[in-house]
Amino acid sequence: MDERLRTSVAGLRLAHPVMNASGILGYLPEHVGTMVSWEVSAIVSKTFTKEPRKGYEPPIIVKLGYGSLINAVGLSNPGIEGIRPFAEAVKNRGLPLIVSVGGFSIQEYVDVSVAAEESGADAIELNMSCPHVKGGGMEFGRDPLVAFQLVKEVASVVRVPVIVKLGVSDKLLEVSSKVLGAGSKALTLINTVRAMSIDVFSFKPYLSNVFGGLSGRSIHPIAVWATYVVFRETSADIIGVGGVFTWRDAAELILAGARAVQVGTALAYRGSTVVRNIVAGLRRWLREVGAGSLSELVGAAHRN
Ligand SMILES: Cc1cc2nc3c(=O)[nH]c(=O)nc-3n(C[C@H](O)[C@H](O)[C@H](O)COP(=O)(O)O)c2cc1C
Repeated sequence: MDERLRTSVAGLRLAHPVMNASGILGYLPEHVGTMVSWEVSAIVSKTFTKEPRKGYEPPIIVKLGYGSLINAVGLSNPGIEGIRPFAEAVKNRGLPLIVSVGGFSIQEYVDVSVAAEESGADAIELNMSCPHVKGGGMEFGRDPLVAFQLVKEVASVVRVPVIVKLGVSDKLLEVSSKVLGAGSKALTLINTVRAMSIDVFSFKPYLSNVFGGLSGRSIHPIAVWATYVVFRETSADIIGVGGVFTWRDAAELILAGARAVQVGTALAYRGSTVVRNIVAGLRRWLREVGAGSLSELVGAAHRN
């Protein structure tokens, strides 16, 4: 592995900056082999909640023609009991594990985070921004005071680094500062963006849940913007996510301030070699721009 691609985020040392985004597999031990074959530098689980969740009835995903998806999966996952078998399967492969945690109350976030740590998670990513789950998720990441309290409580009971995943909202900067003040070691930006799609012949919304979250190419410039403004304001460790399909997309997020990136929708569109190709492209890019290491380029767009 190329030393120049090494990075660290929230204290996690990574062989290169590309991991998977939460939700693309990652809740059953059987998924781990496939995820390892993607050649990610860390594995991010699907969001686990305290209770098992079945998720919504199909259709839960609309594939748009321009490298984007709208999904309303409904956070289907096996619940807190599913964390340990998944974590053990990841640990057997020797990769850092970030467990994504969701909840419908602060106590649920705390309980799931504790279970994740006890199961061997190297970091916890608090999903405070799922745009299509009623009664939780999004609300926590939109209200600066609730977000502060949630992160403070989780950070006071777990020793592993806490990362907060946020979506775009008019409170993005305020919430970012608050959660960093509460003990979050990094931010993952961004989650999907609320969206919908309608079948013009049946006149019906495509998704059973009507609304969903937009991901993929259409949200990439939004992720670059969010990373740029939050880095400018806070200098935080940021994991950039949103429409990363190629090394250029990853490079843009790095220049905006991201120390690592996550890839979600591109895995559905481009298949299992997408991460390898992004990493190879980043290696060439470092050579072309004469950079000694990736870390030299983190936030470099701010120096202009
Ligand atoms: C099918 C699907 C399921 C997802 N499930 C989760 C999830 O469980 N937890 C979470 O934090 N984000 C989830 N996301 C959001 C992604 O992690 C990511 O933030 C978003 O898709 C933007 O990245 P992308 O454009 O590379 O897909 C999901 C996205 C998709 C497309």
